[in-house]
Amino acid sequence: MTFLRNVIESGPKSQSPDRRVTVTQIKQKHRKGEPITAVTAYDYPSAVHLDSAGIDIAIVGDSAAMVVHGYDTTLPITLEEMLVHCRAVARGAKRPLLVADLPFGFYESSSIQQPSGTEHIVVLRFENVIVDWVWDWVCMSEQWVGDACSFEYEQAIDSAMRILKEGAMDAVKLEAGAPSRITAAKAIVEAGIAVMGHVGLIPQAISVLGGFRPQGRNVASAVKVVETALALQEAGCFAIVLECVPPLVAAAATSALQIPTIGIGAGPFCSGQVLVYHNLLGMMQHPHYAKVTPKFCKQYAHVGDIINRALLEYKEEVNSGAFPGASQSPYKINAADVDGFVSELQRMGLDKAASAAAEVADKNNTSKSN
Ligand code: KIV
Repeated sequence: MTFLRNVIESGPKSQSPDRRVTVTQIKQKHRKGEPITAVTAYDYPSAVHLDSAGIDIAIVGDSAAMVVHGYDTTLPITLEEMLVHCRAVARGAKRPLLVADLPFGFYESSSIQQPSGTEHIVVLRFENVIVDWVWDWVCMSEQWVGDACSFEYEQAIDSAMRILKEGAMDAVKLEAGAPSRITAAKAIVEAGIAVMGHVGLIPQAISVLGGFRPQGRNVASAVKVVETALALQEAGCFAIVLECVPPLVAAAATSALQIPTIGIGAGPFCSGQVLVYHNLLGMMQHPHYAKVTPKFCKQYAHVGDIINRALLEYKEEVNSGAFPGASQSPYKINAADVDGFVSELQRMGLDKAASAAAEVADKNNTSKSN
């Protein structure tokens, strides 16, 4: 596992501060005790802003479902939609390490339904190529079980591959609670893709958690947070997002792990922090954002107020005729062409249009001579 991790993480070394941050550099920062900064991004402008601010990691979160698409949860977003966000972010963020969420429903193929009574998948190979598979009652050998496991996680690997190949990301993020997700993380790392784990409140499990609820608030839940984080580290993850857990649970997980923790609503004792772009910027004017902005989020600006004021002013100026003024109407036509144009309009029988054009030409001449 260590060998595999080294192969995956020993990417090209950054030669200048403008070059892409690598997983290795994230590990180095962590080793030196330097805080790691991460922010979510969903489109070209947000990516450019993260880039110019020198943020280490841009996470194309499935929170896009909520803050960009207006859903109440992260569940509806599809892989295709995530890929559109990924490509836009990759075009805008040249320096940050790019990490994207594996969206809900794109890990475990729902078409693999186990018939009742069966226990194992038997993988049928021809010259070492998988040609088919069947559910069976008996386990043929250890070898078959191993094959079955990797086959089961084909969809997770395929989705992760698409995020790198078609989305131009550097790594994927995977929310984990159940053991199957740990196996999926391991399978993806073994396929050569760097994985960031995500534990604590995992919004993709909202259906079973019964809402956006903080985790780790009793012994069993706190131990589960630390155990899951350790299992993800063992699976080969290069970092772990800790979401909505008490600070002392985050401190315990951070101390138990050799890889960095990136906290969100998890207090100060993490190796780094992440916030959702729209929440950090305070886009609160819209009632939807007010509803979905979590209480742990610090607003570093009130961009929503600024946007709202600008839109109101624009509306007023259009209504009053103050916009567009002369400086926002920059395109000119020379005097000879004005005469030709007016004559042509008259020849076409468009007398009103000809008068309108002539009137504007007169006004322009008057304002020039004043
Ligand atoms: O989807 C998201 O925005 C996230 C962040 C917490 C990183 O998972």
